[in-house]
Formats: sequence, structure tokens, C-alpha cells
Amino acid sequence: MSDALLPVYERDLVLVQGKGSKVVDKDGRTWLDFAAGIAVNGFGYGDRKVVNAIKKQAGLLIHASNLYHTEPGLALAERLVSLAFPSQVFLCNSGTEAVEGAMKFSRRIGREEGRTDFVCFEHSFHGRTMGALSATWTKKYREPFEPLVPGVRFCPLNDLAAAAEAVGERTAAVMVEPVQGEGGIRPATPEFLKGLAALCRERGALLVFDEIQCGLGRTGKMFAYEHSGVVPDILTLAKPLAGGLPMGAVLVKDVHASAMKVGDHGSTFGGNPVTAAAALAVLDHLTAPGFLDALGAKGLYLLRGLRRLAKRHKAAIVDVRGLGLMIGVEFRGPAGQVASGLRERDILALKAGEHVLRLLPPLVVKRSEIKALLDALDAVLTGGAGAAA
Ligand SMILES: Cc1ncc(COP(=O)(O)O)c(C=O)c1O
Repeated sequence: MSDALLPVYERDLVLVQGKGSKVVDKDGRTWLDFAAGIAVNGFGYGDRKVVNAIKKQAGLLIHASNLYHTEPGLALAERLVSLAFPSQVFLCNSGTEAVEGAMKFSRRIGREEGRTDFVCFEHSFHGRTMGALSATWTKKYREPFEPLVPGVRFCPLNDLAAAAEAVGERTAAVMVEPVQGEGGIRPATPEFLKGLAALCRERGALLVFDEIQCGLGRTGKMFAYEHSGVVPDILTLAKPLAGGLPMGAVLVKDVHASAMKVGDHGSTFGGNPVTAAAALAVLDHLTAPGFLDALGAKGLYLLRGLRRLAKRHKAAIVDVRGLGLMIGVEFRGPAGQVASGLRERDILALKAGEHVLRLLPPLVVKRSEIKALLDALDAVLTGGAGAAA
């Protein structure tokens, strides 16, 4: 499409504009979007509240640097902390940067005890910068860039005995996605998360939840950790936080926050007033009465519809799993074939690995749009896609 861009992505469509869950490409074709900018466009395209917040703040002050406070930055910090747990927050610009922050803060907090290492999980995805990449399980992402940050061990998800073997006196933190996204929509069980929390308490390690993909309403709760009741020591957020503008956040429980001193970390753009204003609009939406309950109900409608399809198409579907509007469908055959079939029917959806179709519609998706996805998927599977070759 263009020789000016490094070829690190496989892509063809040129998108021009959108409204709600629909996006239009440069040839005028309208797509129903079940990828939502990879879980970023929570309120779909062109949300009025988010757009107006951005416009208004852009007219006042676009950037100030972190040498100064800004009103939206201060308000956002207060808001995030009041929604989550007693904590202090560092604002940054992306998911991977939030994970870097979480890893640095964990080492800083554990420094006097010589805690430098991390326990992570198979199928994890934490980002592409060197620290986050070191904590990411998929070999093909990591190997071309080795040597990475040393001291990361991977354990099977939901295997507490393996984690108990791995967590030791050098462990700074155990880092886990409460629902793994990129790795194939794999929820950690509440029992596992509770066990990890007890293990971390007992051994003096921190517990980090990476909710960059599963947080902020995606699973039907504001934070995915609410499903288990386990509150982490450090929480990372990003993707949908600023309504499509780049922003990440790292919340550190206030009992640990005093370990961080002036100059320990920083970012030129982090907490930028325009992104912070957009994030405040997103949080207004998420906290509107009844919003998350309605989202949970739509998630169940999608999950049940997919489970019905799994019964009808046993040759293709192995498993349907997930929470809220974060759902994976695992196929015996290639998920890419199914995604291509959906594209022929004007629907965008993502793969997660070779066999899983990852459904992450905007949180404002309508039931009629979910029905359209289910009908299209039924037709694609009836045509033989997704079955083993
Ligand atoms: C759980 C999780 N952590 C971290 C990241 C990295 O985020 P970003 O792509 O914004 O750097 C992602 C991105 O997919 C993610 O899903």
C-alpha cells in the first residue's frame, strides 16, 4: 500500500470515518467493527462526549509537559484512584509503557530486598518494549530481540502449584492479565487469582494485574479484578482509557507508593491535558447508572449465541470463553479463515493466535449488531470455515 511505512503490520484497508460500531473505508464500504481498534474504541466511533471534550481542551491547552500540573491531569488522577483502590497513579502514553512503569516500580519497591525478578504466565502479552516484551510469552515476538530483561519466568496460567515453585525471595512481582487477551481470551480463575494474592503476601512479592485489554468495563465490571475480589498491588490500564487517544496508567497501592521518589520515572507526554480530558469523558460514560449492567447483559447475549453456534457447528468450534464483551471462539481449524469469511460479510474481527477468533466489539454495540455477527458467523461456518483441514 505504501513503501514509506515499515512493513511490521499486515494490513490493507484505509479507514476514513466512523459512527458507533460502524466504520467506513476510503472506497465507501461500511464495516461492522468487532475489533474496536483492538479494544480501544469502547464508545465506538465519533462519540459526541469524547469528541467535545477533546475539542474543548484542545482550544484551551494541548500540552504542558510534566513540569507543571494541568486541571484535566489532576482531575483524572483523582477520578481513577477513587474508582479503583487507595493508590497513586502514573499517567503515560500506551499499554507497553504502563507495563514498563509497573515493572520499574516493582523493582524500585523491592530494591532494598534485592527483588529484581518477575513471574509471568504462558500465553501472556504485555507489550513490545524491552521490559514488557521480556514478560510476553510468545517466542516469535521475543526471540528476534534477545537478550531481553533477565529474570522473567513463565508458569502455566491457573496452575497455582507451578506459581508457588516460581515465586521466591528475588521475585519483585507476579504479573498476570485477569483475562488474557492477545494470548487467546483465557480467563484466570478467581481461585487462581486469590491463590496468587496469598502467595505474594506470604513471600513478599507484589501482585501486578495487567488490565490494559480487560479493564475499564470490557468484562462487564469497571475493573476485571472485581470478578475475583482480589485487589492487586499495581494495576495497569490503557487501551480504552482516553477514547482512542494514546494513554496508559499505572496505579500503585498507596502503601507502596512512597518508594517512588522525584526523578525515578517520567514521560514528556504522559497525562497530557487533551488525552486526560478525553479520559474523563470515557469515565463519565462508564460510570453512568446502569451502563455496566447493560453491557454485561449484552455480553451474555453474545456468549449464549456463540454457545448455540458451538452446538450447531461441532466440527469447527472447540470452545467459547470470556467475560462481558471480551469473548474468544476457539476453532479446530484456522481462525484466519473465519475472520476472512466475516470480512466478506462486512464484519471486522481479530484473531488471537492461530485458532481463536477474538471478539471485542465497542462497549456500545447494539443487540441488533451482535445478532448480525452471529448470523454472519453461522453462515461462514456453514460454508465449512473453521473446521480442521
Ligand atoms: C494485556 C496487554 N498489555 C499490554 C499491551 C500493550 O499495549 P500497547 O499496544 O498500547 O503498547 C496490550 C496490547 O495489546 C495488552 O493487550
